[in-house]
Amino acid sequence: MRLVFLGPPGAGKGTVAAILKDRLGIPHISTGDLFRDAISRKTDLGREVEGILARGELVPDELTVALVRERLKAPDAGHGYILDGFPRTIPQAEALEAFSPPEKVVNFVIDDEEVVKRLSGRRVCPSTGRVYHVIYNPPKVEGKDDETGEDLVIRPDDRPEAIRHRLEVYRTQTAPLITYYGKKSRLVDIPSDRSIEEVVHLVEQAVRGL
Ligand code: AP5
Ligand code: ZN
Repeated sequence: MRLVFLGPPGAGKGTVAAILKDRLGIPHISTGDLFRDAISRKTDLGREVEGILARGELVPDELTVALVRERLKAPDAGHGYILDGFPRTIPQAEALEAFSPPEKVVNFVIDDEEVVKRLSGRRVCPSTGRVYHVIYNPPKVEGKDDETGEDLVIRPDDRPEAIRHRLEVYRTQTAPLITYYGKKSRLVDIPSDRSIEEVVHLVEQAVRGL
């Protein structure tokens, strides 16, 4: 099953993908996570993209497409994927059509006010990338990852200026994909301002039978 999760920052794409990957038996591939992993390992790619992510801008298409194309060659992607945060521009979508077209594009629908609430309370584990929210999805022990016990951190792009910029980038560069995939009849809208459990259930129903 080949799925794309599309939606503004903070819509819950990563949270839902982390739950559904095991149920659906396909890997959760987040381009944001791949970049953050490269940054923490201080690779050449990481050095190149660190400032771009912190400012909330998009990494150039060529670099992003090459990264995804390589990742999809791994054996675990043999039966499909959940792509979270890719494609994010029309050229990225056209590239994906050429090497592994998605069967369904799940569009997470949510308003800006809720996005700001979610992103300003998000905390992440620096080594595993596991995602929490101080109110909506808190860890068992305040400020600590449930499994590693590490101190949770705030993503650099969750500062208020970066959140505003990411929403603007989403509107201008990524939202046109809604029409792009709508025309191909592969789009399904999911109201994402519900509880995590409900959103997971709605997405599962929408992709059943693929
Ligand atoms: P990326 O990591 O993809 O960031 P994003 O798209 O901005 O999305 P987020 O991770 O912020 O949100 P999410 O929808 O995953 O929400 P989450 O589940 O965490 O990309 C980061 C950067 O990398 C980009 O800005 C860009 O620089 C670069 N990049 C990545 N892909 C690229 C590409 N294709 N091309 C170019 N550049 C690229 O949830 C958010 C919060 O809400 C959490 O705290 C969570 O606990 C909480 N929450 C989730 N669901 C619910 C719910 N139902 N109810 C209440 N709270 C909830
Ligand atoms: Zn995410």
